[in-house]
Amino acid sequence: MRKKIVAGNWKMNLTLSQGEQLLNDIVNAGLKLEDDVAVVVAPPFPYLQKAKSILQHNPGFFVAAQNCASEKSGAYTGEVSAEMLKSIGVDYVILGHSERREYFNESNEILAKKVDLVLANGMKAIFCCGEPLAVRQAETQNEYVAKQLEESLFHLPAEALKDIVIAYEPIWAIGTGLTASAQQAQDMHAFIRAQVAKKYDRETALRLTILYGGSAKPGNAPELFACEDVDGGLIGGASLVAKDFAAIAQSF
Ligand code: G3P
Repeated sequence: MRKKIVAGNWKMNLTLSQGEQLLNDIVNAGLKLEDDVAVVVAPPFPYLQKAKSILQHNPGFFVAAQNCASEKSGAYTGEVSAEMLKSIGVDYVILGHSERREYFNESNEILAKKVDLVLANGMKAIFCCGEPLAVRQAETQNEYVAKQLEESLFHLPAEALKDIVIAYEPIWAIGTGLTASAQQAQDMHAFIRAQVAKKYDRETALRLTILYGGSAKPGNAPELFACEDVDGGLIGGASLVAKDFAAIAQSF
């Protein structure tokens, strides 16, 4: 049985006091999580230690960073290394979010370096992939996502995939309210799993957790999470509202 995950990507939102309130509201929401469900919270860098201190006593809750540097350490002003994140107890690192690819020119090659650093420091990577609207309209989304996987992940040995979570986030669904249909999500998740099976083996593919992201809400999460190859969600806007995030986390 592969792990199911509901991860909340706060992006660049909230003050420390607002974030602390949200974390406490999530912990105090009385979530009834299935044994194989993990809840991951990804606050901005400054709040990671506070998140760790609030969540660490709650089984099934984990902390993620939203990024890390592509270099190990050194003269990279403003950057935060994977080693630093590990040193404060971060469990997961989100990599390759479309907003970072777009605004900060993160290529598949740069992301391959980040994946290696996250895994080398004993953390797990939530690797984001997904196509822009023009690619979806051209119906070449499979080729687009296959290239992302090939250039950023498929240099890894099969055993490293145990520390990889993939998040399929169609860019045209992020923050738009235009959620992918359950069939669209299932089709791409099944394609991603098939690509992993072809590159490695069936067992590695079946063990891989694949999340959906892109306007996932309490109203659509049950249908999305009921899909055979959808193992949870990477949630943006709805993760900033405790009752909505809690509802999504209980949508399996
Ligand atoms: O990383 C998750 C995010 O990109 C999805 O955002 O607001 O569409 O749930 P949202």
